Amino acid sequence: MVMKKQPTDIIYSFILYTFHLSSYVVLTYGGANTLHLMDGTSTAEIINGDIFFEIVDPVELEYTYRIRPAKDFGAPFNESFHVKNIPLVPVNPRYGCKAPDNLDDVEGNVAFVERGECSFKTKCIVAEKAGAKAVIISDIDHSSEDYFIEMIDDNTNEEVNIPAAYLMGKNGLMIMKTLQRLNRNYAIINLPVNLTFTPVHKMNQPPWLGW
Ligand SMILES: *[C@@H]1O[C@H](CO)[C@@H](O)[C@H](O)[C@H]1NC(C)=O
Ligand SMILES: *[C@@H]1O[C@H](CO)[C@@H](O)[C@H](O)[C@H]1NC(C)=O
Repeated sequence: MVMKKQPTDIIYSFILYTFHLSSYVVLTYGGANTLHLMDGTSTAEIINGDIFFEIVDPVELEYTYRIRPAKDFGAPFNESFHVKNIPLVPVNPRYGCKAPDNLDDVEGNVAFVERGECSFKTKCIVAEKAGAKAVIISDIDHSSEDYFIEMIDDNTNEEVNIPAAYLMGKNGLMIMKTLQRLNRNYAIINLPVNLTFTPVHKMNQPPWLGW
């Protein structure tokens, strides 16, 4: 199945790029929950919309990563969803549009899928069928490495019953490249990590983001 190029994609990308810059400002003033942004969106809404996970192994990737839950499909990342010391497994083939060859590795773990070739929702449906507990999708093509892409529903009728989120391309690229370099099939993660009261300077952001 080929992914249709959706005009909304570009618009969303632009909005989210702006969004991302705003979030950066907000995070810099960490804790200012009443601060309102120019577009009228409150800090709390932005931070509450995104969640974080951390990689605890390999050591080269031991940072905290911000992800954006899918907008209108998938299960919520609510209080009952919490995975600890679980593998984040890049699916093979990497676009995750068909049942993975590494099904045994994906089953019971978090699937790591690249954007492209089919819709976000299709990737989630495929990952769920493979037994994944959640899906993290990232664009590791350089064109969108610095911002979040909103994952919106397509016309697929099937439901997604596991949580799904988007990881900024730059992080996706570094995770993928590092795992390949180390010849590793997975990283170990905790998802989510609660950073509500963590001041920004204490957040363990990946150094390549330049924050
Ligand atoms: C979390 O979401 C799942 C899936 O929708 C649901 O079954 C569960 O009851 C929810 N838990 C809470 C605490 O809201
Ligand atoms: C994070 O922790 C704070 C303080 O313990 C709590 O109020 C908040 O609900 C937690 N957030 C999530 C998403 O678990």
